[in-house]
Amino acid sequence: MKITVIGAGYVGLVTAVCLADIGNTVICVEKSSATLDELNRGMSPIYEPSLQEMLQKNVDEERLIFTHIMEEGIKFSDILFVCVGTPESKVGKADMSQVEEVSRQIAENMDSYKLIIEKSTVPVNTHKLIKRTIKRYARKNLEFDIASNPEFLREGFAVHDFMNPDRIIVGVESKRAENQFRELYKPFTDIGINLIITKNAAAEIIKYASNSFLAIKISYINMLADLCERINVDINMVADGIGADKRIGRDFLNAGVGYGGSCLPKDIKAFINIAESYGVDFSLLKETEKINKNRINQFLEKIEDNLWSIKDKKIAVWGLSFKPDTDDIRETPSLDIIKRLVDAQAYLMLYDPKATDNFKKLVPENNQIKYLKDKYEALIDADALLIITEWKEFKEANLDRVKELMNIPLIIDGRNIFDPEVIKNKEFDYYSIGRDPVKSDNEEYFEYIIKKEDSNIENI
Ligand code: UGA
Repeated sequence: MKITVIGAGYVGLVTAVCLADIGNTVICVEKSSATLDELNRGMSPIYEPSLQEMLQKNVDEERLIFTHIMEEGIKFSDILFVCVGTPESKVGKADMSQVEEVSRQIAENMDSYKLIIEKSTVPVNTHKLIKRTIKRYARKNLEFDIASNPEFLREGFAVHDFMNPDRIIVGVESKRAENQFRELYKPFTDIGINLIITKNAAAEIIKYASNSFLAIKISYINMLADLCERINVDINMVADGIGADKRIGRDFLNAGVGYGGSCLPKDIKAFINIAESYGVDFSLLKETEKINKNRINQFLEKIEDNLWSIKDKKIAVWGLSFKPDTDDIRETPSLDIIKRLVDAQAYLMLYDPKATDNFKKLVPENNQIKYLKDKYEALIDADALLIITEWKEFKEANLDRVKELMNIPLIIDGRNIFDPEVIKNKEFDYYSIGRDPVKSDNEEYFEYIIKKEDSNIENI
């Protein structure tokens, strides 16, 4: 089939490359000339496993073309994927100006029937606004359909997730649009992937509701982690136990310093706003956000508890990206943690396998902050090591070497990457999330709680 993708950002580029790879001819419209130059040289401007190779292959085989001319893209095919950005505005809503602009351009340039597909994450009922805009600005009275086909691509797995989705969600309002999707996604349905056809508004909600549910799971396990610390139970045992129930599932039950990235924090805020605009109070999501923000405070308390005073301490930090296998630092927990440690007058040695260059732009090197090219170098004479992102290379670190290099063998692990037994056997002072007693005198704390409960009972 012939397909047009508008916007070669993260979602647009992955969509264009993958749809070309399954045999379609795809034109991708991108207005940034710098991005376009790279793409025309067969270079991917973003890092995603397999994307570069697939991009090059499909450009070489002439199934994938890039242009900056919107008219060319719109006239090229009947199927238009709108993949432009919907960043968070100052008031926590999604900024829809790019979607509005593209809708006008489609209206002004369309010369035959079009299926216009929202792929960007957009507020509920955006399809109605696109429809109104197209009707207002269309030069001719042409038929068109608006559809919603949200993406569920994780950074670092985007190509994999596109090619092997758990499900494909499509919102349509006509049989004609439904049939086009059935044809487009036949290579997927032929191998048993579930294509869920629903209404536009439902598809729009499904996207926000999915990301919000994932955030709820993370905040829930983090809340449980706080309890586990107080009663000296390992949060991973609890997560394994509840996650073994198929209705719950083990994924996204890893306790830590909280969720970040360009999607979960933004989408949850926007979803709260959407609900509010319809008079519904999403208090559960507000609490989810609150728990997430508080993870940073708790992590800093842990650092303070263990260092006594942060001032003048040399602290090594492993992990700057919001999660492993990406150089993305948007809403990364490490940013707040590092800023607070700088304010507390610590000296920081920072290391990340991929995100250093991006992080440096936000937090430049100075007399308190040094970036290292090697994870071991960052440890020299350190009073503590903080782990904020669970990169594989950290899990595989040579612990004897780590210990040798540090001034004090103290590790505060915000992602639970090590087995506490193993690491304590190596005589590290090791603290993680939801797996240690709050204080070393946990027994006393337990007795205190029992006494408090007894006195409550007596009072009754
Ligand atoms: C997320 C969703 O997982 C995708 O399905 C969705 O398509 C995407 O947003 C989007 O809306 O475009 P992504 O932002 O790439 O994908 O990251 P996730 O893998 O979801 O991780 C988000 C954050 O949660 C990370 O900071 C991660 O460290 C944290 N996390 C994840 C935890 O703290 N614990 C967990 O158990 C899992």
